[in-house]
Order: sequence, then structure tokens, then C-alpha cells
Amino acid sequence: MDGLDNLRSEALAAVSNASSIEALEGARVAILGKKGSVSALMSGLGAMTPDERKAAGQQLNSLKDDIQTALAARKAELEAKALEERLVRERVDVTLPVRPEQVGRVHPIPQVMEEITAIFAQMGFEVAEGPDIEDDFHNFTALNIPPEHPARQMHDTFYFGERAEGGRHLLRTHTSPVQIRTMCAGQPPIRIIAPGRTYRCDSDMTHTPMFHQVEGLVIDESAHMGHLKGCLIEFVRSFFEIDDVPVRFRPSFFPFTEPSAEVDIGCSREGGELKIGPGKGWLEVLGCGMVHPNVLRSCGIDPSRYQGFAFGVGVERMAMLKYGIPDLRTFFDSDIRWLEHYGFAAFDVPGLVGGLAR
Ligand code: FA5
Ligand code: MG
Repeated sequence: MDGLDNLRSEALAAVSNASSIEALEGARVAILGKKGSVSALMSGLGAMTPDERKAAGQQLNSLKDDIQTALAARKAELEAKALEERLVRERVDVTLPVRPEQVGRVHPIPQVMEEITAIFAQMGFEVAEGPDIEDDFHNFTALNIPPEHPARQMHDTFYFGERAEGGRHLLRTHTSPVQIRTMCAGQPPIRIIAPGRTYRCDSDMTHTPMFHQVEGLVIDESAHMGHLKGCLIEFVRSFFEIDDVPVRFRPSFFPFTEPSAEVDIGCSREGGELKIGPGKGWLEVLGCGMVHPNVLRSCGIDPSRYQGFAFGVGVERMAMLKYGIPDLRTFFDSDIRWLEHYGFAAFDVPGLVGGLAR
């Protein structure tokens, strides 16, 4: 059994040098496999005398045992190493914040809608919804807008084709139809806001064919014009986060409210920038008024018992003023550089506690 010591040290070296599970398996086959070096020696046992065989057999068996122990130890080592490497490679640090640059930016419109919703939610308003595609009754008739009213003319309203059963659907021109849907669905007290998209055939620096409004409606037995004013002033102050926002209630007309007003915010447009503050200009941001008795009646609410106020806020206008965006049309250009500049961090959820923005 010359060379057994050599074989032992070679085999043990091959095992300890194996640098992967696959290499270790290769070494095992080369030593202990059917055609392996130890097996070759085993097959030589047959040609020996019984005494020689006994001695050599013992030596070979102890060699085999040693190699198997070494193989098992090396295998455990390699497996631990592989696991360690995999843990490093697949490491997820859950304590790290997500990198905002990988998530993109939030467009100012949904951001501002969230801001507005947060303020009214704090005041106890619920969120209501209605469809973008409306019918004549909800968008006009029930809102006390008679058929010959200019708001119904083609240049303002996007109409769909005539239906077989008569009448045309339309893209709602304001969120006020949600007032009707809410009042038809239940009795007062009502205190809702309805954020959503609205459509008009209009386009310039302060108008786009699709824009967003947040409707508000309060109906109970005692809501009056003072509540309307207080509520809206509180709203603009919270929204702009300035106490002395220049705000003006201007008498106006809406068929569905009486009296009616529009609210303007003082601003200036110098050097292509839009800034809030006492200046030459005013930008109209919302329409409002006391709900007309005819509207309550259309919805089956008794106007001798209930009264209330409503308002419709232009979301883009509020966003322009707060974030100094001079041209309303740029909101819908889908320009990624614009969004990088005016957009918001994806995890900046507006709330009155953490602050409304940035
Ligand atoms: C209305 O739409 C009324 N429904 C608002 C209302 C509701 C009055 C409840 C009374 C009671 P007006 O057409 O003025 O009103 O629009 C309301 C606001 O939407 C405007 O003050 C303006 O801020 C915004 N707005 C109107 N047209 C556009 C447009 N084409 N693009 C962007 N914003 C617009
Ligand atoms: Mg108006």
C-alpha cells in the first residue's frame, strides 16, 4: 500500500481546495466514485493474500472515512459561504426610504386636489362622486338652467350624438351635477365635496378644454351666507398658508344659486411669473352662492325647511397661484422637464398636520 499517504494528502488537498459545491462534487467523484482513485485501490484488494487484504482493507476504509468527513465539512463550509453571498446580494434594507427619483413626481393637479380635500375633510366634509359623462337633467335642468340658457350652447359644452331614445349626453361642464346626485340620493343634513374633471370648449392662458373642479355643498336648516364666506375664507387661508391672502367676493350670477358670488385672489404677473399678493390683477378661483330653492325642489328637498350653500373651486387656478405656474395649458403638455420642476415628491402626502406641501 505504498503511496497511500500520498493519496490521502492529495485527496484531502483536493477537498479543501474545492471552491464551489460543483468543484467539491467533482473531487468526490474523482476520489470515491466508481472510477475514482480509492476505488481503484479497493479493486486491487482481490489479488492480495487474506492477511494483506485485512491490513490494507482497514487502511483503505479509514482513508475513505477521513475523506468522507473532510467532504462533509467542506460541503457545510461552502454552503454557508454561498448563503452568506446570497444574503449580501439580495439584501433589502427595509429601513432605507425609497429613493424618490426612482418613483417619479406627482403632478400638481392630484397634489392640489389632495390638499383641498385634506382641508375640507378637516372641516367635516365627506367626498362624493359623479360621472364625467352626464345627462341634461343633472348638468343643467335640475340646476335651474332653462333650455335657452347660454351655458347650453355648443361653444361651451361638448355634446355626444343624439340617442335613439332622444336627448344627448354631454361631458359635464362643471362638478355641480354631483350636488343634484347627492341631494336626490338622500335628505339633509348634507356636507360634501366632489373633486373631479370637467370639460368646456375653451383654451387660453387661464382656460383649458379639460380642467378640474372641487364642488362643495352644505344643506341643513340654518346654513347662511355668513357660513359660506367664513368657510371659503378659512379654506383659502389654509390652502395658501398665508393669513392675509388678498381675497375678494364679487357679486355674480349662477342660475343655481341666489345670491351668487365669485371669489378672486389678488396676484401679479410680472416678468412672466404669477405671484399671490396685492397687485394690479385678480384671478377668479371659484364660484359660489346660496342654493336656489328651485334646485332643492328638483331634488325633492323642501326649501321651506332646508337651505344651504354651494361652491365650485377651479383646481388648476388654485395650483397656478400657489405654485407660481403662469400658463394653465402647460399642466397638460406632458413635458417631463415641467413635471420635474413643478411636480411633488411621491411620498409627500398632504395633510394639515404635516403641512400641505413640500
Ligand atoms: C361654475 O362652474 C359653477 N358650477 C361654480 C359654482 C358651484 C357656483 C356651486 C355656485 C355654486 P365657473 O364657470 O365660474 O362656475 O367655474 C368655476 C371655476 O372653475 C372658475 O372660477 C375657474 O377657477 C374654473 N374654470 C372655469 N373654466 C375653466 C377653464 N376652461 N379652465 C380652467 N379652469 C376653469
Ligand atoms: Mg366664473
